[in-house]
Amino acid sequence: TLIIAAVMVGGYLLGSTPFGVISMRLAGAGDPRNIGSGNIGATNVLRSGRKDLALLTLLGDGGKGALAVLGAVLLTRNAPEATRHMMVALAAGSAFLGHLFPVFLRFRGGKGVSTFFGTLLAAAFPVGAAAAATWLVMALLFRISSLAALTAAALAPLFALLAFHSPHAIVLLTLFMGALIFVRHQDNVRRIVKGEEPRIGGGRKPAE
Ligand code: G3P
Repeated sequence: TLIIAAVMVGGYLLGSTPFGVISMRLAGAGDPRNIGSGNIGATNVLRSGRKDLALLTLLGDGGKGALAVLGAVLLTRNAPEATRHMMVALAAGSAFLGHLFPVFLRFRGGKGVSTFFGTLLAAAFPVGAAAAATWLVMALLFRISSLAALTAAALAPLFALLAFHSPHAIVLLTLFMGALIFVRHQDNVRRIVKGEEPRIGGGRKPAE
């Protein structure tokens, strides 16, 4: 029980750390919540023109998810396989929820894409790699970050279930995070449908 609490609270607090806001503030580059989509993620930090800070945000928000998973792995070294999978999924889900509803930002957080990739790469590497490859291919094809993220989020449960026969806990994790990513991208979906979603590094003006 103590380990469950530690994994959930630790994961949540890690996930709550908003690297987009922190890196832009520390660099004196403003606040991602005041530009572009207003989101705190790497895609929107990139709209500040600071590629270095966007990369830091991607690695930070992804890394915190991976770290939460690593913590769960270390804490359950001697536990049965099924328990370990459950704890890993719990840590990943907690970190993801932390990013979406961070205690440090009065629960107004991000859309979870970097953290989704970080947790999945650590928890089920082939699934995370396939999802990341999906993002990359879609991003190269359409240059729309949100569309790439939504495609990766939709396919991740299929990769886990059908391609890699992941444990139930991991399949559930991909479903959970994937569904929440769709919930958080409603404005993006509306813009995509209207053809108004800004492109990555694009000169075209954002919709808002
Ligand atoms: O990772 C978030 C991305 O999918 C969308 O971000 O700023 O375009 O809403 P943004």
